[in-house]
Amino acid sequence: MSDIIDILACPVCGNPITKTNNKLSCSNNDCKKSYSLLFDNIFSFLDNDQSDDTELSIEKWNEFYSDKTKFDDYEKRYQLYLSDNYDNVYRQISENKKFDEKTTILLEIGCGPMFLARALSDKCKLVVGIDFSIKALKTAKAMLEKNKIKNYILIHGDIKNMPIKDGSIDIIYGGGVIEHFTDTYTAIQELYRVLKPSGISFNTVPHLNIGSLTYRQVWGNIPNFPVLKQIAEFIHIKLLKSKHMTFGYELSFLATHLKYLHSKAGFKKVEAKKFETKLMFEFIPTKILKNSMSWLANNSPLFWPMIKVIGTK
Ligand SMILES: C[S@@+](CC[C@H](N)C(=O)[O-])C[C@H]1O[C@@H](n2cnc3c(N)ncnc32)[C@H](O)[C@@H]1O
Ligand SMILES: [Zn+2]
Repeated sequence: MSDIIDILACPVCGNPITKTNNKLSCSNNDCKKSYSLLFDNIFSFLDNDQSDDTELSIEKWNEFYSDKTKFDDYEKRYQLYLSDNYDNVYRQISENKKFDEKTTILLEIGCGPMFLARALSDKCKLVVGIDFSIKALKTAKAMLEKNKIKNYILIHGDIKNMPIKDGSIDIIYGGGVIEHFTDTYTAIQELYRVLKPSGISFNTVPHLNIGSLTYRQVWGNIPNFPVLKQIAEFIHIKLLKSKHMTFGYELSFLATHLKYLHSKAGFKKVEAKKFETKLMFEFIPTKILKNSMSWLANNSPLFWPMIKVIGTK
């Protein structure tokens, strides 16, 4: 495991962190905040006081990663990820920024089991994963160790307030992450802050369209659009008590809105468009319906399941 203090900064005041034995503390005498060891060289930077949407997401993601049937055999899931998703994601990121194994620092936000960072560790100098789910980090750690990957750092923290130095990251990847809290703009500002000049941020999120207004409602998606948002929050959170919200708080976005938020945060060359990914329509019963849905999801913005948003610092 790489030395974590090279990349860390105090999330409260932004000053460098010092490490003594198993303790991390802020080097600023007026702050002096200390950060506790969670397990095996993984420290927690997560504030105990979280907003309701973040609390809901932490609880649901911990539940999700504790599901034995899903996560016992994560090696099998990793192979599935490689065959279904990896080429798409890697190709689309490297169209925007080349990897250099001697210099590239890749940050996977909401890293979960670190599938992408694990697959790319040999193309990077360092891969950094941050997640607020302890269960996810345990899985990620086990996977990386099993594969004898050494150039990684795992952080227990919040994307909206990362314990990472300004201007230290080349590529940020978030696969279905920045939709899991209400304060999207704060998160996007954080992404901008930690990137090096000319670094890129690449995020995929659910697209606000016919899909989010229909089948995504089964797991409580919240369309991020005035009035629709308030109605969906009232139904899913207040009335139905979030029971069916498998992924916690989950927004869907219009491409124009995400572009606006990125540009406002300072990003240049911002693009938001269809994310090319393998489509999963196993739940559709007949072949003809399945084929029609796949065609629409590939060809009509009204049905694209996910969009990618890319910005350069
Ligand atoms: C859809 S999963 C994606 C996991 C991984 N990127 C992948 O592709 O398999 C979303 C992840 O984001 C994490 N997450 C969501 N909001 C977060 C936040 N505010 N801070 C840190 N992690 C967060 C969740 O715990 C979860 O692991
Ligand atoms: Zn501090």
